[in-house]
Amino acid sequence: MTVSRVQRCAVWFGKPSARDEAVFAASGWHLRVARPDTSVQVGMRGGDLVIAVVDLRGADATHLAALESILAQHADLPSLALADDTTDLADPACQRILARCGGRLPQPLDPQTLDAALATLLASPRRNIASVGGESAVMLGVRALLHRYADVELPVLITGESGTGKELAAHALHDLSGRRARPFVAMNCGAISPTLVQSELFGHERGAFTGAATRRMGLFESADGGTVFLDEIGDLPLDAQTNLLRVLQEGTIERVGSNHTIRVDVRVLAATHVDLEAAIAAGRFRQDLYYRLDVLRLLLPPLRARGSDVELLARQFLDEFRAGHSVQARGFSAAARQCLRQHAWPGNVRELLNRVRRAAVVAEHALIEPADLQLGQSNAQVVALDHHRDRTERDALLDALRATGCNVSASARRLSVSRVTIYRLCRKHGVSLEAFR
Ligand SMILES: Nc1ncnc2c1ncn2[C@@H]1O[C@H](COP(=O)(O)OP(=O)(O)OP(=O)(O)O)[C@@H](O)[C@H]1O
Ligand SMILES: [Mg+2]
Repeated sequence: MTVSRVQRCAVWFGKPSARDEAVFAASGWHLRVARPDTSVQVGMRGGDLVIAVVDLRGADATHLAALESILAQHADLPSLALADDTTDLADPACQRILARCGGRLPQPLDPQTLDAALATLLASPRRNIASVGGESAVMLGVRALLHRYADVELPVLITGESGTGKELAAHALHDLSGRRARPFVAMNCGAISPTLVQSELFGHERGAFTGAATRRMGLFESADGGTVFLDEIGDLPLDAQTNLLRVLQEGTIERVGSNHTIRVDVRVLAATHVDLEAAIAAGRFRQDLYYRLDVLRLLLPPLRARGSDVELLARQFLDEFRAGHSVQARGFSAAARQCLRQHAWPGNVRELLNRVRRAAVVAEHALIEPADLQLGQSNAQVVALDHHRDRTERDALLDALRATGCNVSASARRLSVSRVTIYRLCRKHGVSLEAFR
């Protein structure tokens, strides 16, 4: 029986000493040396784990510039810096690099200190839980469940309408789990031709079918030790469902064209936006597989059920967009905020994200307006009505204050409201009693 392990590869930008090389090898890391000034492909093969070591020893300005540009190209690459007394720590480029790296390689280097540094580096979640944004009670509940489910080695069935963040939640579960340093491999079951699904998931032997020129590892093998995320699980063909059931029950797979059993250690997360019970009734989904998958359930609520999260996320998406683009828009007008609150969001968070990005690009002023968000006519009418209501309220307040010589109690009686309401209305409409008197 062969179980292939994911390779652990460190790309060293600079010159490792013989001792550095020996220590990395002793900890099971394959070391690749790259000169920062030459173009280098830092690719992951399958589920390989790749990190960068940014060697700052004796680095001059050219070397630092090259390192910065490499790090910018590989924003997701976990990296450790290596500095000593030949490093110009006062150099701003050097400081930026150190801030960008996830830690420093300890000196002197030995297998224990290296393992500790790598464990800390790989444990820091790249997509942290805060990326699942929202402060509504339902979203606090979702985040609590993400924490609770993360370290349980059982499948999670993630459900919710399109665009509610099912894939994001799957990433968060992986990043919060003890498997975070191992691969996260996702497959959209509906996006692959049914004839290729089996080979994609479980791999194949050379010659297993026409076109299988070489032996190929499947997703489950390449995710060994990590997480497999099966998106749109309702679209998985029935024969692949049978094999998936076997992974869940026995923890084993067989490559297509082989009867050799391979043990795999993976956690399965699955998502669906279709009703699996209906698919079972229609004979398109195996009931026994459904029971195996539906152990822990995570329901992502539609955006319209998340109250003021809509505005909070809109603000967050705008800020994120502004960080990377120079645009006029800095915020949302009152009318735009009202439209955001009233829209039904059939496309959920994805729709919000797209509307905000678009609005940020097309808005010609500092405040985004409803038209920039392309929010409908009905919204505009509601906004117009509210505007009239506000005007009438303000006029009535001013009339009462004038008629009573700015006496709060008398104005309150005149308008049949409490004195507190008069003060509140003054604040709301920017009327200063002092100035009025
Ligand atoms: N709570 C959230 N906070 C911030 N961003 C979010 C949140 N939920 C979703 N997003 C963003 O919205 C987009 C859609 O999310 P995602 O792809 O996870 O949805 P999905 O439920 O998998 O959609 P589909 O059913 O269409 O596959 C992504 O860009 C994601 O980062
Ligand atoms: Mg999705």
